[in-house]
Amino acid sequence: MLTGENARTTTTTATARRGDWRFLWPYFRRESRRLGLLGAVMLGATGATLASPFVVREFIDGVVTGTLDVAGSTRLVLLFGVLGLARYALSAVEAGLAESVAWRSTNRLREDVLQHAMDLPLEHHHTATPGEWVERVDGDISLLSNLFSRFVITIVGELLIVVGVITALFSVDWRIGLLFLVCLLVGLVGIRWVAGWGRDAYRGSRGAVARFMGYVEERLRGTEDLQALGAVGHAMEGLTDRHRGVLRTDLRAALVGSSLVWASASLFTALVTALALGLAGLRFGQGALTIGTVYLVFAFTQQLQEPLIRLSHQLQDYQRAMAGLSRTREILDLPVEPRGGTAVLPDGPHDVTLDGVTFGYAREHPVVTDLDLELPAGQTLGVVGRTGAGKSTVAKLLSGLVRPDAGAVRIGGVDTADVSVTDLRAAVAVVTQDVFLLDASVRDNVTLMDPDVSDEQLGAALEALGLTEWVGRLPHGLDTRVSEHVMSAGEAQLLALTRVLIRDPALVILDEASARLDPETERRLDAALRPALAGRTAVVIAHRLATLDSVDLVAVVDEGRIVELGPRDQLSVDPGSRFATMLQQGGS
Ligand SMILES: Nc1ncnc2c1ncn2[C@@H]1O[C@H](COP(=O)(O)OP(=O)(O)O)[C@@H](O)[C@H]1O
Ligand SMILES: [Mg+2]
Repeated sequence: MLTGENARTTTTTATARRGDWRFLWPYFRRESRRLGLLGAVMLGATGATLASPFVVREFIDGVVTGTLDVAGSTRLVLLFGVLGLARYALSAVEAGLAESVAWRSTNRLREDVLQHAMDLPLEHHHTATPGEWVERVDGDISLLSNLFSRFVITIVGELLIVVGVITALFSVDWRIGLLFLVCLLVGLVGIRWVAGWGRDAYRGSRGAVARFMGYVEERLRGTEDLQALGAVGHAMEGLTDRHRGVLRTDLRAALVGSSLVWASASLFTALVTALALGLAGLRFGQGALTIGTVYLVFAFTQQLQEPLIRLSHQLQDYQRAMAGLSRTREILDLPVEPRGGTAVLPDGPHDVTLDGVTFGYAREHPVVTDLDLELPAGQTLGVVGRTGAGKSTVAKLLSGLVRPDAGAVRIGGVDTADVSVTDLRAAVAVVTQDVFLLDASVRDNVTLMDPDVSDEQLGAALEALGLTEWVGRLPHGLDTRVSEHVMSAGEAQLLALTRVLIRDPALVILDEASARLDPETERRLDAALRPALAGRTAVVIAHRLATLDSVDLVAVVDEGRIVELGPRDQLSVDPGSRFATMLQQGGS
């Protein structure tokens, strides 16, 4: 649902655009002091720009009528120079201020989007790769900050100039002023109209870039597998396809969005210049205007041309940024995970109950059906079953990552649907075969940056998993950065388990946590687990049956149902049980 294809189908209406600005305003409002300063600087710069042609007019008329002496002309030349300097100095301040307002306000938007993304139900993260997310959180929003720092400045700055020019021309000759005003209104309506075409083209181009980034990120992560399987060539071909997609959409965007706008703006200014010079020439012939004033009209026509062309340039950024914004708002519009209720889980190990639980990732295709299970407090349940049987889904139901379509999951007698997500996450710890280590110290990886974890707690957890000696051998002990020391998969797994023990959760779930380990490391992990899980309620989803040697109960899952459930000691010796058969076959 995050793909550009989808995004492109959204219609672009005038109301959507107005909504965009209303959406952005709160982010800019916080910068109102800087914005005010920016406005004042822009007014100054506009004044300096508009005053210059008047100085030149004085000069021309003075020379033509022979009334300009040396002192007078020196004064005018100096004034002209000072005005020019002031204009450039103020523009520099203007650019700096605009950049700072743009980054400060869009950084807040970035924070909001990232926060929102992390609160989204996990399935959204499965529909887009991390690369796409990066492009969403940073790429699209950077376009917005560019929009503000350049486009808004241009628009407001040029509008000030245009208003100034029109006022000045009315004061010179109302006919010329009126001509400019009419031409300008026609021009603005025309450019708005042309610009509308470009917007859709830019959405397509942003989508293609996001897909390209996603592809690269995914391939880079899978480099090891790709090389091992000899699939690098195929991956590179895929890259070419993505490149072609970017090129095609970019080309379209450039043609429709930019060239057309540029061409129409140029044509328009040429027309206005001709009309204005014609009219001014006529008035000069009638003796109504001096030659200096004809120059003034010409200079102002040129000052109108620049805003219009720059405006059309900026429209390209505007289209891109608005396309980015609508994609950003799509993320913010995705509903976040329900925060759950206010029921509180009691402390200590809990019994866990599944009561008629049915769930499917798509409701119409249940993946687990009518599960009933009672796991007494402090006991360990082993779960076995074929790949795809629904074991991991059971783990997700227990940890609240997915919610039952029917039935209830109870921990300590409390329906998990009534517990807040935060409390539930704190009470249930899950370790899977994918361990994610941050590029931080071993300590921070274990405590997850929680400063309340004491060294004693940390030491006890490491001791329980037999890691004390290992930490002692690290170059800087607990302060060794993960990137400094090549961590084996087994060590990473053990660190993940340490995380769990420190949190002291009411329920521990291991979902094939040792599946990627070599048999030797797996045995070490199993040995470490035994004391670590003692007295805790735990669910161990087993990849090798040996992992289940010490569990209390065993559940066999097949096609989303629990087909066998009982004490391990009984099942293993009951020749009629599936579990005993599995043990005999020596695999699952
Ligand atoms: N995120 C998901 N979206 C859609 N279907 C899924 C998802 N995860 C798992 N499934 C499907 O649910 C079924 C059970 O998967 P899972 O619980 O992971 O099985 P197991 O852990 O026993 O191998 C499988 O058919 C799988 O394809
Ligand atoms: Mg699984």
